[in-house]
Amino acid sequence: MDRKHFLKSALLTTGSLLLGSAAIYRYLGNRETADAPLSQAIDKIQDGNMKKVLVVMSAGTKRGNTDRLTDAYIKGLVERGHSVTKVYLGSMKIEGCRGCGVCQRLAHQCAIKDGMQDIYPLFAECDTIVMASPLYFWTITSRLKSFIERLYAISTDDKYPKKDAVLLMTAGDDEDATFEQPLRYFRLLNQALGWNEAGVYCAGDCTGCEKLAREIGKEHLENAYKMGLAL
Ligand SMILES: Cc1cc2nc3c(=O)[nH]c(=O)nc-3n(C[C@H](O)[C@H](O)[C@H](O)COP(=O)(O)O)c2cc1C
Repeated sequence: MDRKHFLKSALLTTGSLLLGSAAIYRYLGNRETADAPLSQAIDKIQDGNMKKVLVVMSAGTKRGNTDRLTDAYIKGLVERGHSVTKVYLGSMKIEGCRGCGVCQRLAHQCAIKDGMQDIYPLFAECDTIVMASPLYFWTITSRLKSFIERLYAISTDDKYPKKDAVLLMTAGDDEDATFEQPLRYFRLLNQALGWNEAGVYCAGDCTGCEKLAREIGKEHLENAYKMGLAL
């Protein structure tokens, strides 16, 4: 047993006694996710012969509502024959833009060396960018916002590579205004960056993290799947 595994197993044993095994497993599990290697944070799902689709899933929880909605959409994409790569932003460390301006002076390279460096080449080659987010305080997650901010590095004179863009969202509420802010932002973004809106799906009335088992309506998953098939 190497040092890392020895320490982990010692911690697990002690932690089990002190906290109960479920709690300590959860703690270590989360720690491992934060420092996840590339293979756990970036999933090359299919190498198809149609469009190249980059899916950026920004919920912090895998297999939650947003992840499941995203996977239903991806199922459609895969069946349609697209190339699909899925990025779990919640498993990466991605800072917001520092506004240092280095990128605009030095060959459009971002000065921040974090998970975004693995995403830039995937973004460069994709035709379609799919952004998935739970609604947090009436807008997208800070993780997704950081990803968007960091695209500034690749802009030239405020011009961005042309992309088709898709937004997938989930929320607890399902009122007329529930998704107003992120939708408005998504459309402003498309306009400003010269992207083409290629789909929006907003799934309201999802059960949140206050319940152990999250619930998203089956009809949302079915609709997202059909949307993926139609891209
Ligand atoms: C920090 C936080 C803020 C939230 N803010 C809102 C909100 O403003 N409106 C809303 O309807 N739901 C809100 N929710 C509920 C989530 O959007 C909803 O449960 C979502 O489906 C969770 O997605 P996930 O399972 O992928 O994490 C919030 C949840 C959290 C944790």
